[in-house]
Amino acid sequence: MAQLWGGRFTQKTDDLVYKFNASISFDKRMLRQDILGSIAHAEMLGKTGVITAQDSEAIVKGLKGILDDSLSGKIDISEEYEDVHSFAESVLTDRIGDAGKRLHTGRSRNDQVALDMRMYTRGEVCHTDELLAELMHTILGIMKSEKDTVMPGFTHMQKAQPVTLAHHFGAYFEMFKRDRSRLADLYDRMNECPLGAGALAGTTYPLDREYVAKRLGFKCATANSMDSVSDRDYLLEFLFALSEIMMHLSRFAEEIIIWNSDEYRFVEISDTYSTGSSIMPQKKNPDIAELVRGKTGRVYGALMSLLTTMKGIPLAYNKDMQEDKEVSFDAMDNALSCIKLFDGMLGQMSFNRDRMLKSAAGGFTNATDAADYLVRKGVPFRDAHRFVGEMVVHCIEKNISLDEMSIDDLKKICDKAEPDFYEAIKLSTCVDRRLTKGAPGAEAVDAEIKISEEYLASTKTLKDPLDSIEI
Ligand code: ARG
Repeated sequence: MAQLWGGRFTQKTDDLVYKFNASISFDKRMLRQDILGSIAHAEMLGKTGVITAQDSEAIVKGLKGILDDSLSGKIDISEEYEDVHSFAESVLTDRIGDAGKRLHTGRSRNDQVALDMRMYTRGEVCHTDELLAELMHTILGIMKSEKDTVMPGFTHMQKAQPVTLAHHFGAYFEMFKRDRSRLADLYDRMNECPLGAGALAGTTYPLDREYVAKRLGFKCATANSMDSVSDRDYLLEFLFALSEIMMHLSRFAEEIIIWNSDEYRFVEISDTYSTGSSIMPQKKNPDIAELVRGKTGRVYGALMSLLTTMKGIPLAYNKDMQEDKEVSFDAMDNALSCIKLFDGMLGQMSFNRDRMLKSAAGGFTNATDAADYLVRKGVPFRDAHRFVGEMVVHCIEKNISLDEMSIDDLKKICDKAEPDFYEAIKLSTCVDRRLTKGAPGAEAVDAEIKISEEYLASTKTLKDPLDSIEI
């Protein structure tokens, strides 16, 4: 049992209570953030004369040593401490003596943990953004190589109209683009420094909060001390952003699972991203895609959990808020590895172009184009729709496709049909004619690819300021 408090107590904490209350087993991952925050705080205490320059230097040097030793694995974080903050401060004091005891001047663990968690989350926001950018490069690569891969587009899981694989993947590119823009938004909103808020009501020391904020890569110091120690909005926003990313990945995963099935065989997941069955020798299962789909619920769970934790908490800090960490870390770890693995799986997946083309040729995916053909011959769309509906019934009865109907049979249903009908309903024509902005026609997809390339070239990934901090 090693704790920062005790003066007020006459009895020893019950062992179970100590364990129940402690957070070191999960907050130890924030040691780097904790130490960097303490370094900025100690520098500021020295600059403002709250502590002597000598003490400030000794603290900074001591903290650097702990950081180096923890990065090189020389020190193990001992779980006998209550939390990562107590651990760092105790090791510091063991190493440098009394100066270490001055580090906590003008600070509370409430603003300290608010800072650490915010910086840890900010780093993960940046990491997520980088992984999404990589995934989008992979998607764009596939869009470029599959521009002519015709496949059925579906609505209600029924074949609807032909599209291309490039176009289909372009839809996911857009989703991840929105996800990245959400991350950039929340990064900007969260990037204010809570340190200096104290326990809840600021402090009587003349702290330079803006110095600390700038030193740690924040835009500015937060405006209200009570809000600073009790705000977890940024974390909720990030959990929502991760939930939406997972929802997108999960839909994508679902499609790949379907496309990888024997019934479809549109794609083949590489052996390196598949797993087998212990009993059925023939099996090659899409477990990675299934796990991505499965872990989505878990990330949503973290969002719901923290929303629920926060909803009844009066101002300012309450211990309930310690519950923000395990669920959030779990959501971050899982979401990030899902993006990475999904990217790897896509990069090694092969596409069965013939199967897709064959599939697009069935199911009357060209029926809308047949109606559009009649419209071009002067038939009002509503009538054209009915005529083609009758043609489809005829085909189903005869077990043929629209292009196999004779011109006489076509004319029996609508006398405006001419021999150029067949050219108009060819799959390649159906795709190529769709040239409105955002449609699957080759020229439209070329334009979409160009916009996507420009987007990736011009949108810098978010960078964690702590990665370039000089100490
Ligand atoms: N482990 C705590 C948390 O994660 C740190 C803050 C503790 N503050 C306190 N007043 N006990 O929230």
